[in-house]
Amino acid sequence: MKRGPVVIRARGDEGNFNSALSIRLDRNGKIEAQNFIALHSTPSAVGQISLLQAAEIVAPEAIGIIARILITGCRGGIGLDVACRLLKRGHSVYATVHRETSVDELRSVLTSFGENFVVDKLDVTEANDVNKVDDWDIDVLINNAAIGDSGPLAEIDPQRISAVFETNVFSALRLTQKVLPQMIAKGGGRIVFMGSMAGLIPMPFYAPYAMTKSTLECVASSLRTELKPFGIKVITINPGGYNTGFNQKNLAKKYEWMDVNGLYKDHMRYVRESEERLVKREVQDTQSIAKQVVKAVEARRPKRRYVAPKWEWIFLPLVRRFG
Ligand SMILES: NC(=O)c1ccc[n+]([C@@H]2O[C@H](COP(=O)([O-])OP(=O)(O)OC[C@H]3O[C@@H](n4cnc5c(N)ncnc54)[C@H](OP(=O)(O)O)[C@@H]3O)[C@@H](O)[C@H]2O)c1
Repeated sequence: MKRGPVVIRARGDEGNFNSALSIRLDRNGKIEAQNFIALHSTPSAVGQISLLQAAEIVAPEAIGIIARILITGCRGGIGLDVACRLLKRGHSVYATVHRETSVDELRSVLTSFGENFVVDKLDVTEANDVNKVDDWDIDVLINNAAIGDSGPLAEIDPQRISAVFETNVFSALRLTQKVLPQMIAKGGGRIVFMGSMAGLIPMPFYAPYAMTKSTLECVASSLRTELKPFGIKVITINPGGYNTGFNQKNLAKKYEWMDVNGLYKDHMRYVRESEERLVKREVQDTQSIAKQVVKAVEARRPKRRYVAPKWEWIFLPLVRRFG
């Protein structure tokens, strides 16, 4: 991660000029103005003061850290929310999507949050797409892309589990390995893995997905120690249930193949009903988890793990144990 300078645009008293202020943090974390650059006009002293005031107001905890961030799986949901927030806070974002057909739509959404972005197709399972990162300058990688599946482990075709591992674990690891050399050369960086509370607190019939998220915990934990000598921080984000459509889609997958006369024929109604209850409790918008991802990117000393919603983190183990 590169520290400062951060560039802030502000409107001066004399009109809408386009100027830049380079800012660094001093040793006490206080803002000190280093440089003032007028890009299109000669700023007055008033203009300089306006910019300094803006620097105090705009994201004080972010001042001093401007990062180039690669996010996978940004078509919607948590990835899109995170991309928008990071852009708003002045970072540069490589916002990537699974399919070419999503590129234009994402580009038009991000345009309203600034210009510091590149939108590209990056299917994490495609070697040609993964090779694109060689041309990008990346301080932070957010491994957000994922697929899911569900069904009883006693009956599911292991190939289905393999496919989820291929996207969620092996592809995330390959992409991580691909960006690490440039982070090591720069002397630092951050790798963020989008885990899940499901990876920490297993839930019946969702193991084909949850297993991959549990494995990411192991991946992150090992990498954290292995990458410490290179100044690279490894962080996991553990969302609870968010209404992005992800869980509904993946919990439904088992009904495509489960035999109505199979092992669980007498339990299917109960399983469906408990899943419906679970999905109803999902948080309706992604802001609480997206804010945690922003903290993971910007915190000077990031925690190993960020979770949301907090109430779910506290109560879910009890619900699972006694519910
Ligand atoms: N929503 C929740 O309750 C919840 C809870 C815990 C953890 N999470 C995690 O949060 C992350 C984001 O999920 P979300 O809820 O925001 O759902 P989402 O919008 O469906 O996000 C998943 C993204 O991954 C993309 N993707 C799938 N396969 C890919 C591939 N091979 N290459 C590149 N991108 C690929 C999807 O693209 P397409 O849709 O275009 O295929 C989609 O944009 C995931 O890691 C998920 O496991 C979500």
